[in-house]
Amino acid sequence: MQIQWFPGHMAKARREITERLKVIDIVIELVDARAPYSSKNPMLNDIVNNKPRLIVLTKKDMADEKLTQVWLDYYKSQGYYAISVNLKNFNEYKLIIDTCREILAPKMQREKERGIRPRAIRAMVVGIPNVGKSTFINKLANRKATITGNKPGVTKAQQVIKVAKDFELFDTPGVLWPKFEDPHVAKNIALIGSIKQDILPLDDLYKDVMIYLSENYAYLLKDRYDLVIDFEDEDWLLKTFDHISKKRKIKLLKGDIDYDRVMIAIFTDIYDGSIGRITWENPTCVND
Ligand code: G4P
Repeated sequence: MQIQWFPGHMAKARREITERLKVIDIVIELVDARAPYSSKNPMLNDIVNNKPRLIVLTKKDMADEKLTQVWLDYYKSQGYYAISVNLKNFNEYKLIIDTCREILAPKMQREKERGIRPRAIRAMVVGIPNVGKSTFINKLANRKATITGNKPGVTKAQQVIKVAKDFELFDTPGVLWPKFEDPHVAKNIALIGSIKQDILPLDDLYKDVMIYLSENYAYLLKDRYDLVIDFEDEDWLLKTFDHISKKRKIKLLKGDIDYDRVMIAIFTDIYDGSIGRITWENPTCVND
């Protein structure tokens, strides 16, 4: 899903989430494990305020395992609950529900002690485009779930999925925007497919990607394209195009390398993960 965000959209998203917060117990914030900072919404902290929040790093199957652990440790050190999942795995989404139950168990116990009748936990999912919100919600909705609308505090347009006796979830996610204005973020969310790449100059993105991969995942460049970059060579960038063009047998354009197609080939390998598992940032990038 590609969304053009304008100030009006942002204000509306913010309003809708604030409204729902009144009736939910926990916010499930999905971020992409390949860019766990860049795929977070910068304003969610202000909006969510004191509600418990579970940060879920999705697509862990596409991310660098070691860095996923580093990010989980980082978010936990910041006082969040954090887990990682592969939503494409048959039952892994259940870990999210179970973790919410664990987080809220003390609250439910306190309510019980005060004589409040046992009730279902109510949760909502939020996140920027493409982080797996619908995948998660659809898995829940397809599984013996019943849609129950018109609950107190839930407007007609919003429906609640009854996942289990003790767990309910809003059936539409809160869609948030990334921090586009930060060039580091814009680059990373383009690389994970959350915004169209064409808002960025492709050749700059290509150059940055080659440098990052060479510094951090040289083995992937070697395995996939048999490419080893020699930065001492002042023509190194052009040579990568030449090499990949030949390796991937990309048709020449009027006798010359088709630079655009080489870049698209690389970016496609990156989005769909066929190049291998990559994480584009580590917690040292966090500056706010
Ligand atoms: P959104 O609602 O937040 O916008 O995201 P959505 O669920 O549409 O997911 C975006 C893409 O990410 C989908 O792929 C989905 O299958 C994939 N995805 C979600 N979670 C995971 C995960 O944990 N691991 C992996 N590998 N992929 C995940 P798609 O190609 O757009 O659709 P589809 O053909 O897979 O259905």
